[in-house]
Amino acid sequence: MSAVPSLRHLLLLRPRLRFFALSTSSSPFLSYAPSHHFSPSSLRVLSSSSSPTLTQEEADEVVGKGSSLIDVNPPRGTRDFPPDDMRLRNWLFQNFREVSRILSFEEVDFPVLESEALFIRKAGEEITQQLYNFEDKGGRRVVLRPEITPSLARLVIKQGKSVSLPLKWFTIGQCWRYERMTRGRRREHYQWNMDIFGVSKVRGEAELIQAIVLLFERLGINSSDVGIRVSSRKVLQAVLQMYAIPENLFTQVCVIVDKLGKITREEIEKELLSLGVSIQAVNGIIEVLSLKSLSKLEEVLGSEEEAVSELKKLFSLAESYGYADWICFDASVVRGLAYYTGIVFEAFDREGKLRAICGGGRYDRLLSTFGSEDIPACGFGFGDAVIVELLKDKGLLPDLAHRVDDIVFPLDEVLDGTASRIASSLRKKGRSVDLVEDKRLKWVFKHAERIGASRLILVGNSEWERGAVRVKNLSTREEFEVKIDELV
Ligand code: HAM
Repeated sequence: MSAVPSLRHLLLLRPRLRFFALSTSSSPFLSYAPSHHFSPSSLRVLSSSSSPTLTQEEADEVVGKGSSLIDVNPPRGTRDFPPDDMRLRNWLFQNFREVSRILSFEEVDFPVLESEALFIRKAGEEITQQLYNFEDKGGRRVVLRPEITPSLARLVIKQGKSVSLPLKWFTIGQCWRYERMTRGRRREHYQWNMDIFGVSKVRGEAELIQAIVLLFERLGINSSDVGIRVSSRKVLQAVLQMYAIPENLFTQVCVIVDKLGKITREEIEKELLSLGVSIQAVNGIIEVLSLKSLSKLEEVLGSEEEAVSELKKLFSLAESYGYADWICFDASVVRGLAYYTGIVFEAFDREGKLRAICGGGRYDRLLSTFGSEDIPACGFGFGDAVIVELLKDKGLLPDLAHRVDDIVFPLDEVLDGTASRIASSLRKKGRSVDLVEDKRLKWVFKHAERIGASRLILVGNSEWERGAVRVKNLSTREEFEVKIDELV
Protein backbone atom coordinates (compact mmCIF):
# COMPACT_ATOMS: atom_id res chain seq x y z
CA MET A 1 0.00 0.00 0.00
CA SER A 2 1.21 3.51 -0.74
CA ALA A 3 2.72 5.43 2.17
CA VAL A 4 0.43 8.37 1.43
CA PRO A 5 -3.12 7.64 2.56
CA SER A 6 -5.70 8.40 -0.08
CA LEU A 7 -8.68 10.56 0.75
CA ARG A 8 -10.88 7.51 0.20
CA HIS A 9 -8.91 5.52 2.75
CA LEU A 10 -9.31 8.19 5.34
CA LEU A 11 -13.03 8.44 4.73
CA LEU A 12 -13.70 4.74 4.53
CA LEU A 13 -11.49 3.63 7.33
CA ARG A 14 -11.94 6.38 9.86
CA PRO A 15 -15.45 7.77 10.27
CA ARG A 16 -14.21 9.67 13.34
CA LEU A 17 -11.50 11.38 11.31
CA ARG A 18 -14.11 12.35 8.79
CA PHE A 19 -16.00 14.14 11.52
CA PHE A 20 -12.90 16.14 12.42
CA ALA A 21 -12.29 16.94 8.80
CA LEU A 22 -15.71 18.44 8.43
CA SER A 23 -15.93 20.30 11.67
CA THR A 24 -12.53 21.42 12.92
CA SER A 25 -11.28 24.87 12.10
CA SER A 26 -8.00 26.23 13.34
CA SER A 27 -6.00 28.14 10.74
CA PRO A 28 -6.87 31.83 10.43
CA PHE A 29 -7.43 31.18 6.78
CA LEU A 30 -9.37 28.07 7.57
CA SER A 31 -13.12 27.57 7.76
CA TYR A 32 -13.34 29.67 4.68
CA ALA A 33 -13.65 26.41 2.79
CA PRO A 34 -17.31 25.40 2.49
CA SER A 35 -17.83 22.41 4.74
CA HIS A 36 -20.80 20.82 3.00
CA HIS A 37 -18.62 18.83 0.65
CA PHE A 38 -15.40 17.08 1.39
CA SER A 39 -12.95 18.70 -0.95
CA PRO A 40 -9.26 17.82 -0.90
CA SER A 41 -8.70 21.12 0.86
CA SER A 42 -10.92 19.99 3.73
CA LEU A 43 -8.31 17.32 4.35
CA ARG A 44 -5.94 19.97 5.53
CA VAL A 45 -7.65 20.16 8.90
CA LEU A 46 -6.13 16.78 9.54
CA SER A 47 -2.77 18.39 9.12
CA SER A 48 -3.38 21.71 10.84
CA SER A 49 -1.30 22.40 13.89
CA SER A 50 -4.03 22.30 16.50
CA SER A 51 -6.08 19.44 15.11
CA PRO A 52 -5.46 16.06 16.68
CA THR A 53 -2.41 14.30 15.30
CA LEU A 54 -2.99 10.73 14.15
CA THR A 55 -2.08 8.21 16.82
CA GLN A 56 0.32 5.43 15.82
CA GLU A 57 -2.63 3.04 15.82
CA GLU A 58 -4.59 5.28 13.46
CA ALA A 59 -1.58 5.78 11.26
CA ASP A 60 -1.00 2.03 11.08
CA GLU A 61 -4.61 1.52 10.09
CA VAL A 62 -4.29 4.04 7.30
CA VAL A 63 -0.95 3.06 5.83
CA GLY A 64 -0.73 -0.55 6.86
CA LYS A 65 1.01 -2.03 9.87
CA GLY A 66 4.75 -1.77 9.95
CA SER A 67 5.11 1.55 8.11
CA SER A 68 4.82 4.75 10.11
CA LEU A 69 3.22 7.92 8.88
CA ILE A 70 5.38 10.99 9.27
CA ASP A 71 3.90 13.89 11.21
CA VAL A 72 1.87 15.64 8.55
CA ASN A 73 1.45 18.81 10.62
CA PRO A 74 3.60 21.80 9.73
CA PRO A 75 5.73 23.03 12.66
CA ARG A 76 3.61 24.42 15.50
CA GLY A 77 2.39 27.93 14.82
CA THR A 78 3.06 27.73 11.08
CA ARG A 79 0.65 27.18 8.24
CA ASP A 80 0.25 25.26 5.03
CA PHE A 81 -1.66 27.09 2.33
CA PRO A 82 -3.88 24.64 0.45
CA PRO A 83 -5.70 26.15 -2.56
CA ASP A 84 -8.62 27.79 -0.72
CA ASP A 85 -6.27 29.46 1.76
CA MET A 86 -3.84 30.42 -0.96
CA ARG A 87 -6.61 32.12 -2.94
CA LEU A 88 -7.57 34.10 0.15
CA ARG A 89 -3.95 35.05 0.80
CA ASN A 90 -3.46 36.17 -2.81
CA TRP A 91 -6.64 38.20 -2.67
CA LEU A 92 -5.46 39.95 0.50
CA PHE A 93 -1.99 40.60 -0.95
CA GLN A 94 -3.53 41.99 -4.14
CA ASN A 95 -5.40 44.49 -1.99
CA PHE A 96 -2.17 45.37 -0.14
CA ARG A 97 -0.44 45.89 -3.49
CA GLU A 98 -3.26 47.89 -4.98
CA VAL A 99 -3.42 50.29 -2.03
CA SER A 100 0.37 50.71 -2.16
CA ARG A 101 0.15 51.48 -5.87
CA ILE A 102 -2.62 54.02 -5.27
CA LEU A 103 -0.39 55.77 -2.72
CA SER A 104 2.52 55.73 -5.21
CA PHE A 105 4.78 53.33 -3.29
CA GLU A 106 7.35 51.06 -4.96
CA GLU A 107 7.69 47.39 -4.05
CA VAL A 108 10.90 46.01 -2.55
CA ASP A 109 11.90 42.66 -1.09
CA PHE A 110 14.47 41.23 1.32
CA PRO A 111 15.74 37.84 2.40
CA VAL A 112 13.78 36.15 5.18
CA LEU A 113 17.16 35.08 6.58
CA GLU A 114 19.09 38.02 7.95
CA SER A 115 22.16 38.46 10.06
CA GLU A 116 21.41 38.40 13.77
CA ALA A 117 23.27 41.66 14.40
CA LEU A 118 20.50 43.56 12.64
CA PHE A 119 18.03 42.51 15.35
CA ILE A 120 20.13 42.73 18.50
CA ARG A 121 18.72 45.57 20.59
CA LYS A 122 19.18 46.03 24.27
CA ALA A 123 15.92 47.66 25.34
CA GLY A 124 14.37 44.37 26.50
CA GLU A 125 11.77 44.23 23.72
CA GLU A 126 9.69 41.07 23.46
CA ILE A 127 10.56 40.73 19.78
CA THR A 128 14.27 40.22 20.52
CA GLN A 129 13.41 37.44 22.97
CA GLN A 130 11.32 35.68 20.32
CA LEU A 131 14.03 35.38 17.68
CA TYR A 132 14.40 32.28 15.57
CA ASN A 133 18.19 32.56 15.63
CA PHE A 134 20.91 30.04 14.94
CA GLU A 135 24.37 29.56 13.53
CA ASP A 136 24.61 28.62 9.87
CA LYS A 137 27.07 26.06 8.50
CA GLY A 138 29.65 28.81 8.03
CA GLY A 139 29.45 29.79 11.70
CA ARG A 140 27.51 33.01 11.07
CA ARG A 141 24.79 34.07 13.50
CA VAL A 142 21.58 34.42 11.52
CA VAL A 143 17.87 34.91 12.20
CA LEU A 144 14.60 34.30 10.46
CA ARG A 145 13.52 37.94 10.54
CA PRO A 146 10.82 38.78 13.09
CA GLU A 147 9.97 42.05 11.29
CA ILE A 148 11.05 43.88 8.16
CA THR A 149 11.95 47.40 9.32
CA PRO A 150 15.65 46.66 10.09
CA SER A 151 16.09 45.09 6.62
CA LEU A 152 14.52 48.14 5.08
CA ALA A 153 16.89 50.40 7.01
CA ARG A 154 19.81 48.21 5.92
CA LEU A 155 18.86 48.62 2.26
CA VAL A 156 18.39 52.36 2.59
CA ILE A 157 21.89 52.62 4.08
CA LYS A 158 23.28 50.33 1.36
CA GLN A 159 21.70 52.37 -1.43
CA GLY A 160 23.22 55.49 0.11
CA LYS A 161 23.14 58.66 -1.95
CA SER A 162 21.80 56.80 -5.00
CA VAL A 163 18.25 56.95 -3.63
CA SER A 164 16.34 60.16 -4.00
CA LEU A 165 14.28 61.21 -1.02
CA PRO A 166 11.52 60.98 -0.12
CA LEU A 167 11.52 57.29 -0.69
CA LYS A 168 8.24 55.39 -0.44
CA TRP A 169 8.61 51.62 -0.34
CA PHE A 170 6.29 48.75 0.41
CA THR A 171 6.90 45.07 0.86
CA ILE A 172 4.98 41.92 1.76
CA GLY A 173 6.97 39.21 3.45
CA GLN A 174 7.00 36.43 5.96
CA CYS A 175 8.17 37.12 9.51
CA TRP A 176 9.02 34.66 12.26
CA ARG A 177 8.51 35.13 15.99
CA TYR A 178 8.60 32.47 18.65
CA GLU A 179 5.28 33.74 20.08
CA ARG A 180 2.86 32.48 22.65
CA MET A 181 0.02 31.76 20.28
CA THR A 182 -3.35 33.43 20.57
CA ARG A 183 -6.07 34.10 18.04
CA GLY A 184 -4.40 35.89 15.13
CA ARG A 185 -0.89 35.53 16.59
CA ARG A 186 1.30 32.84 15.09
CA ARG A 187 4.93 31.85 14.85
CA GLU A 188 5.05 32.91 11.23
CA HIS A 189 2.95 35.57 9.61
CA TYR A 190 3.08 37.72 6.54
CA GLN A 191 3.38 41.45 6.98
CA TRP A 192 2.56 44.21 4.57
CA ASN A 193 4.87 47.14 5.31
CA MET A 194 4.69 50.66 3.94
CA ASP A 195 7.51 53.00 4.88
CA ILE A 196 8.53 56.53 3.99
CA PHE A 197 12.10 57.82 4.34
CA GLY A 198 12.93 61.50 4.09
CA VAL A 199 9.70 63.11 5.32
CA SER A 200 10.05 64.66 8.77
CA LYS A 201 6.60 66.26 8.91
CA VAL A 202 3.45 64.41 10.02
CA ARG A 203 2.40 64.37 6.37
CA GLY A 204 4.25 61.02 6.36
CA GLU A 205 2.05 59.50 9.08
CA ALA A 206 -1.06 61.06 7.52
CA GLU A 207 -0.30 59.31 4.22
CA LEU A 208 0.31 55.97 5.93
CA ILE A 209 -2.95 56.16 7.86
CA GLN A 210 -4.80 56.92 4.67
CA ALA A 211 -3.32 53.75 3.15
CA ILE A 212 -4.55 51.70 6.11
CA VAL A 213 -8.03 53.23 5.92
CA LEU A 214 -8.23 52.66 2.16
CA LEU A 215 -7.29 49.04 2.70
CA PHE A 216 -10.00 48.56 5.33
CA GLU A 217 -12.57 50.18 3.06
CA ARG A 218 -11.61 47.95 0.14
CA LEU A 219 -12.14 44.92 2.37
CA GLY A 220 -15.60 46.13 3.39
CA ILE A 221 -14.61 47.20 6.90
CA ASN A 222 -15.86 50.55 8.17
CA SER A 223 -15.02 52.92 10.99
CA SER A 224 -17.63 51.38 13.28
CA ASP A 225 -15.78 48.04 13.03
CA VAL A 226 -12.24 49.34 13.38
CA GLY A 227 -10.49 52.37 14.84
CA ILE A 228 -6.91 53.59 14.79
CA ARG A 229 -5.45 54.73 18.11
CA VAL A 230 -2.84 57.43 17.75
CA SER A 231 -0.35 58.92 20.17
CA SER A 232 3.25 60.09 20.15
CA ARG A 233 6.32 58.89 21.99
CA LYS A 234 7.07 62.58 22.44
CA VAL A 235 4.28 62.61 25.06
CA LEU A 236 6.30 60.23 27.19
CA GLN A 237 9.48 62.12 26.41
CA ALA A 238 7.89 65.33 27.71
CA VAL A 239 6.76 63.58 30.89
CA LEU A 240 10.26 62.17 31.45
CA GLN A 241 11.67 65.68 31.05
CA MET A 242 9.17 66.98 33.61
CA TYR A 243 10.56 64.51 36.14
CA ALA A 244 14.19 65.00 35.03
CA ILE A 245 14.55 61.35 34.06
CA PRO A 246 17.76 60.87 32.04
CA GLU A 247 17.29 60.66 28.25
CA ASN A 248 19.13 57.35 28.00
CA LEU A 249 16.29 55.61 29.88
CA PHE A 250 13.68 56.73 27.35
CA THR A 251 13.65 53.58 25.19
CA GLN A 252 13.56 51.22 28.15
CA VAL A 253 10.73 53.21 29.75
CA CYS A 254 8.76 52.99 26.47
CA VAL A 255 9.21 49.24 26.26
CA ILE A 256 8.09 48.82 29.88
CA VAL A 257 5.02 51.07 29.73
CA ASP A 258 3.92 49.39 26.51
CA LYS A 259 3.09 46.42 28.74
CA LEU A 260 0.37 48.42 30.58
CA GLY A 261 -2.81 46.40 30.32
CA LYS A 262 -0.83 43.24 29.55
CA ILE A 263 0.82 42.90 32.98
CA THR A 264 -0.28 44.40 36.32
CA ARG A 265 0.36 47.98 37.31
CA GLU A 266 2.46 46.72 40.24
CA GLU A 267 4.73 44.84 37.86
CA ILE A 268 5.11 47.93 35.66
CA GLU A 269 5.92 50.01 38.76
CA LYS A 270 8.49 47.46 39.87
CA GLU A 271 10.21 47.46 36.47
CA LEU A 272 10.29 51.28 36.29
CA LEU A 273 11.54 51.61 39.86
CA SER A 274 14.32 49.15 39.10
CA LEU A 275 15.44 51.47 36.28
CA GLY A 276 15.80 54.25 38.85
CA VAL A 277 12.56 56.09 38.00
CA SER A 278 11.06 57.71 41.13
CA ILE A 279 7.62 56.68 42.36
CA GLN A 280 6.30 60.23 41.69
CA ALA A 281 7.49 59.94 38.09
CA VAL A 282 5.95 56.46 37.76
CA ASN A 283 2.59 57.85 38.92
CA GLY A 284 2.95 60.85 36.61
CA ILE A 285 3.74 58.64 33.61
CA ILE A 286 0.82 56.30 34.26
CA GLU A 287 -1.55 59.24 34.75
CA VAL A 288 -0.59 60.89 31.45
CA LEU A 289 -0.83 57.57 29.62
CA SER A 290 -4.48 57.28 30.66
CA LEU A 291 -5.44 60.43 28.72
CA LYS A 292 -7.83 59.93 25.83
CA SER A 293 -8.38 63.53 24.81
CA LEU A 294 -6.03 65.78 22.94
CA SER A 295 -7.33 68.91 24.68
CA LYS A 296 -6.60 67.30 28.08
CA LEU A 297 -3.09 66.48 26.84
CA GLU A 298 -2.68 70.10 25.78
CA GLU A 299 -3.73 71.18 29.29
CA VAL A 300 -1.11 68.92 30.87
CA LEU A 301 1.82 69.49 28.49
CA GLY A 302 1.01 72.96 27.11
CA SER A 303 0.31 73.90 23.49
CA GLU A 304 3.97 74.61 22.78
CA GLU A 305 4.92 70.99 23.27
CA GLU A 306 5.93 69.27 20.01
CA ALA A 307 3.91 66.16 20.84
CA VAL A 308 0.77 68.28 21.08
CA SER A 309 1.32 70.37 17.94
CA GLU A 310 2.20 67.32 15.82
CA LEU A 311 -0.81 65.37 17.01
CA LYS A 312 -3.09 68.36 16.39
CA LYS A 313 -1.68 68.70 12.89
CA LEU A 314 -2.28 65.01 12.21
CA PHE A 315 -5.88 65.24 13.39
CA SER A 316 -6.47 68.29 11.23
CA LEU A 317 -4.97 66.50 8.20
CA ALA A 318 -7.22 63.55 8.96
CA GLU A 319 -10.21 65.88 8.49
CA SER A 320 -8.88 66.95 5.09
CA TYR A 321 -8.22 63.38 3.96
CA GLY A 322 -11.70 62.41 5.19
CA TYR A 323 -10.74 59.71 7.67
CA ALA A 324 -11.11 61.61 10.96
CA ASP A 325 -13.84 59.21 12.17
CA TRP A 326 -11.32 56.35 12.02
CA ILE A 327 -8.73 57.81 14.36
CA CYS A 328 -8.71 58.66 18.06
CA PHE A 329 -6.09 59.97 20.43
CA ASP A 330 -5.06 57.46 23.09
CA ALA A 331 -1.95 58.25 25.11
CA SER A 332 -1.58 54.61 26.18
CA VAL A 333 -0.36 53.66 22.68
CA VAL A 334 3.42 53.49 23.01
CA ARG A 335 4.26 50.36 20.92
CA GLY A 336 6.66 47.70 22.02
CA LEU A 337 9.50 48.32 19.58
CA ALA A 338 12.48 50.31 20.77
CA TYR A 339 13.09 52.45 17.70
CA TYR A 340 9.96 54.63 17.58
CA THR A 341 10.60 58.30 18.26
CA GLY A 342 7.40 60.20 17.43
CA ILE A 343 3.83 59.48 16.39
CA VAL A 344 2.75 55.88 16.92
CA PHE A 345 -0.50 54.22 15.91
CA GLU A 346 -2.32 50.90 16.02
CA ALA A 347 -5.54 49.70 14.41
CA PHE A 348 -7.92 47.78 16.65
CA ASP A 349 -11.30 46.08 16.33
CA ARG A 350 -13.90 48.10 18.21
CA GLU A 351 -15.41 44.98 19.79
CA GLY A 352 -12.04 44.45 21.48
CA LYS A 353 -11.87 40.74 20.65
CA LEU A 354 -8.59 40.70 18.76
CA ARG A 355 -5.02 41.90 19.13
CA ALA A 356 -3.75 44.87 17.12
CA ILE A 357 -4.57 44.58 13.42
CA CYS A 358 -1.60 46.66 12.37
CA GLY A 359 0.81 49.13 13.90
CA GLY A 360 3.49 51.60 13.09
CA GLY A 361 5.01 54.95 13.74
CA ARG A 362 7.92 57.31 13.28
CA TYR A 363 11.47 56.09 13.75
CA ASP A 364 13.77 58.99 12.94
CA ARG A 365 16.84 57.58 14.67
CA LEU A 366 17.02 53.96 13.55
CA LEU A 367 19.76 54.44 10.95
CA SER A 368 22.22 55.88 13.47
CA THR A 369 21.84 52.74 15.62
CA PHE A 370 23.36 50.95 12.60
CA GLY A 371 26.21 53.46 12.43
CA SER A 372 24.79 55.50 9.57
CA GLU A 373 23.49 59.03 9.24
CA ASP A 374 19.85 59.33 10.31
CA ILE A 375 17.05 59.96 7.84
CA PRO A 376 13.56 60.73 9.18
CA ALA A 377 11.33 57.72 8.62
CA CYS A 378 7.90 56.34 9.39
CA GLY A 379 5.98 53.23 8.45
CA PHE A 380 3.69 50.46 9.54
CA GLY A 381 3.39 46.68 9.52
CA PHE A 382 0.04 45.03 8.79
CA GLY A 383 -0.20 41.29 9.40
CA ASP A 384 -2.22 38.77 7.42
CA ALA A 385 -3.63 36.89 10.40
CA VAL A 386 -5.71 39.23 12.57
CA ILE A 387 -7.39 40.84 9.57
CA VAL A 388 -8.60 37.44 8.34
CA GLU A 389 -10.03 36.69 11.80
CA LEU A 390 -11.87 40.01 11.67
CA LEU A 391 -13.19 39.42 8.14
CA LYS A 392 -14.38 36.02 9.28
CA ASP A 393 -16.19 37.51 12.32
CA LYS A 394 -17.85 40.16 10.17
CA GLY A 395 -18.86 37.72 7.43
CA LEU A 396 -16.72 39.63 4.96
CA LEU A 397 -14.62 36.82 3.54
CA PRO A 398 -14.92 36.96 -0.25
CA ASP A 399 -16.20 34.12 -2.40
CA LEU A 400 -13.02 32.96 -4.08
CA ALA A 401 -13.87 29.59 -5.57
CA HIS A 402 -11.50 28.09 -8.10
CA ARG A 403 -12.70 29.22 -11.53
CA VAL A 404 -11.78 28.11 -15.04
CA ASP A 405 -13.22 29.13 -18.37
CA ASP A 406 -13.32 25.84 -20.28
CA ILE A 407 -13.10 22.13 -19.76
CA VAL A 408 -11.87 20.18 -22.78
CA PHE A 409 -12.79 16.51 -22.68
CA PRO A 410 -11.98 13.93 -25.38
CA LEU A 411 -14.73 11.32 -25.54
CA ASP A 412 -12.35 8.81 -27.08
CA GLU A 413 -8.73 8.06 -26.22
CA VAL A 414 -7.72 8.35 -29.88
CA LEU A 415 -8.72 12.01 -29.75
CA ASP A 416 -6.26 12.97 -26.99
CA GLY A 417 -3.94 14.68 -29.52
CA THR A 418 -6.84 16.71 -30.89
CA ALA A 419 -7.96 17.65 -27.38
CA SER A 420 -4.41 18.81 -26.60
CA ARG A 421 -4.38 21.01 -29.72
CA ILE A 422 -7.73 22.56 -28.81
CA ALA A 423 -6.74 23.18 -25.18
CA SER A 424 -3.41 24.63 -26.25
CA SER A 425 -4.98 26.99 -28.77
CA LEU A 426 -7.56 28.26 -26.23
CA ARG A 427 -4.85 28.75 -23.61
CA LYS A 428 -2.78 30.77 -26.10
CA LYS A 429 -5.80 33.05 -26.39
CA GLY A 430 -5.69 33.54 -22.62
CA ARG A 431 -8.57 31.29 -21.59
CA SER A 432 -8.07 29.07 -18.57
CA VAL A 433 -8.61 25.51 -19.67
CA ASP A 434 -8.75 22.29 -17.71
CA LEU A 435 -7.94 19.33 -19.96
CA VAL A 436 -9.63 16.26 -18.49
CA GLU A 437 -9.06 12.64 -19.46
CA ASP A 438 -9.95 9.16 -18.26
CA LYS A 439 -13.16 10.17 -16.52
CA ARG A 440 -16.82 9.40 -17.02
CA LEU A 441 -18.95 12.12 -18.60
CA LYS A 442 -21.03 12.31 -15.42
CA TRP A 443 -17.89 13.11 -13.40
CA VAL A 444 -16.88 15.76 -15.94
CA PHE A 445 -20.23 17.55 -15.58
CA LYS A 446 -19.95 17.51 -11.79
CA HIS A 447 -16.37 18.72 -12.01
CA ALA A 448 -17.41 21.55 -14.35
CA GLU A 449 -20.01 22.64 -11.82
CA ARG A 450 -17.53 22.43 -8.96
CA ILE A 451 -14.97 24.67 -10.64
CA GLY A 452 -17.56 26.99 -12.16
CA ALA A 453 -16.48 26.35 -15.76
CA SER A 454 -18.40 28.39 -18.28
CA ARG A 455 -18.04 25.94 -21.18
CA LEU A 456 -17.60 22.24 -21.66
CA ILE A 457 -15.89 21.33 -24.93
CA LEU A 458 -16.52 17.74 -25.87
CA VAL A 459 -14.19 16.29 -28.49
CA GLY A 460 -16.08 13.38 -30.09
CA ASN A 461 -15.39 11.25 -33.13
CA SER A 462 -18.38 12.18 -35.27
CA GLU A 463 -17.98 15.95 -34.73
CA TRP A 464 -14.25 15.69 -35.24
CA GLU A 465 -14.80 14.04 -38.64
CA ARG A 466 -16.59 17.29 -39.56
CA GLY A 467 -13.70 19.36 -38.09
CA ALA A 468 -15.88 20.41 -35.17
CA VAL A 469 -16.46 19.93 -31.43
CA ARG A 470 -19.55 20.10 -29.22
CA VAL A 471 -19.59 23.14 -26.99
CA LYS A 472 -21.93 23.22 -24.04
CA ASN A 473 -22.55 26.60 -22.45
CA LEU A 474 -22.86 25.63 -18.80
CA SER A 475 -24.78 28.67 -17.65
CA THR A 476 -27.47 28.62 -20.39
CA ARG A 477 -27.30 24.82 -20.87
CA GLU A 478 -27.28 25.44 -24.66
CA GLU A 479 -25.23 23.13 -26.84
CA PHE A 480 -23.73 23.87 -30.26
CA GLU A 481 -21.50 22.22 -32.78
CA VAL A 482 -18.61 24.64 -33.40
CA LYS A 483 -15.94 24.43 -36.13
CA ILE A 484 -12.47 24.21 -34.61
CA ASP A 485 -11.20 27.37 -36.30
CA GLU A 486 -14.25 29.29 -35.03
CA LEU A 487 -13.66 28.30 -31.42
CA VAL A 488 -12.71 31.32 -29.33
P1 HAM B 1 4.54 45.03 15.09
O1 HAM B 1 3.49 45.77 15.82
O2 HAM B 1 5.45 44.17 15.86
O3 HAM B 1 5.35 46.11 14.25
O4 HAM B 1 3.85 44.14 13.97
C1 HAM B 1 3.03 44.74 13.00
C2 HAM B 1 1.84 43.86 12.73
O5 HAM B 1 2.28 42.56 12.32
C3 HAM B 1 0.94 43.57 13.92
O6 HAM B 1 0.04 44.62 14.15
C4 HAM B 1 0.24 42.33 13.43
O7 HAM B 1 -0.72 42.65 12.43
C5 HAM B 1 1.35 41.60 12.72
N1 HAM B 1 2.02 40.63 13.63
C6 HAM B 1 3.06 40.83 14.44
N2 HAM B 1 3.39 39.71 15.08
C7 HAM B 1 2.53 38.75 14.67
C8 HAM B 1 2.35 37.36 14.95
N3 HAM B 1 3.13 36.72 15.78
N4 HAM B 1 1.36 36.69 14.31
C9 HAM B 1 0.57 37.33 13.44
N5 HAM B 1 0.68 38.63 13.12
C10 HAM B 1 1.65 39.34 13.73
C11 HAM B 1 6.41 45.81 13.45
O8 HAM B 1 6.73 44.70 13.14
C12 HAM B 1 7.05 47.03 12.87
N6 HAM B 1 8.29 46.61 12.21
C13 HAM B 1 6.10 47.72 11.92
C14 HAM B 1 6.68 48.93 11.29
C15 HAM B 1 7.03 49.09 9.98
N7 HAM B 1 6.96 50.06 11.91
C16 HAM B 1 7.48 50.91 11.02
N8 HAM B 1 7.51 50.32 9.84
